[in-house]
Amino acid sequence: MKNSQRRPLVVGNWKMHGTLVSAGDLLNALRTSLQQNTAVDVAVCAPFVHLPLCRELLTISGIRWGAQNVSAYAQGAYTGEVAASMLAELGCHYVLIGHSERRALFGETDAVVVEKLRQALAAGITPILCVGETLAEREQGSTEAVIAGQLAAVLSALPAGQLAQLVVAYEPVWAIGTGKTATPEQAQAVHAHIRRQWAAAQPGQAEALIVLYGGSVKADNARLIFAQPDVDGGLVGGAALDASQFCAIVNAAEQAWNH
Ligand code: PGA
Repeated sequence: MKNSQRRPLVVGNWKMHGTLVSAGDLLNALRTSLQQNTAVDVAVCAPFVHLPLCRELLTISGIRWGAQNVSAYAQGAYTGEVAASMLAELGCHYVLIGHSERRALFGETDAVVVEKLRQALAAGITPILCVGETLAEREQGSTEAVIAGQLAAVLSALPAGQLAQLVVAYEPVWAIGTGKTATPEQAQAVHAHIRRQWAAAQPGQAEALIVLYGGSVKADNARLIFAQPDVDGGLVGGAALDASQFCAIVNAAEQAWNH
């Protein structure tokens, strides 16, 4: 049974893919195919340089857009960085923060994640906080401890009013881009753990908290994962680059909510 306090959310993470032409084609295809969708909240997190195109093509659609990263600083001499206020100016509704690729490849620590969350929230952008364990951590049996640590850093740093704005994405690192997904049961177990930990810190918020699953979500596995009671939708990488796959995943979310 799905909790009526939460609407399903499906977010595409385009990563560093595409051209202006391919991004435009994808946005147009999504806009057309999802015209009738009102049941599922849908967004795409595009490369920075494609965000003006998102604004141009999605403004009157129901599809929202967002970025994949944001600076930990508000403004100033930070060559190459993009401020949250700049993303807000481009109409970004969401920003991914703490994606495992950022943590692993670009050295993002929990402390940096917290600063980025603060920046996004100050600009009125909804952060999608990504957490997840590596394969080695899962095999050692430390999945829950790793996620608890990633969440604790945030839960202890931000006030309740800000925590209430967050979306969480559980993305097991071993499932990202590998074609291996967590089983529906594995996903449910971690999502329930996330919600319990949230409830311990912020009792009034846990039932409304949106927790997405990410890691090789495809049209053919989405429905069973989304059917789990604590899975509120998906963060979709590879399959988000294909309009028909992505729309099928949105449909899977709608079906999971109708059952
Ligand atoms: P994937 O990526 O769907 O290609 O595994 C998910 C993500 O990294 O957000």
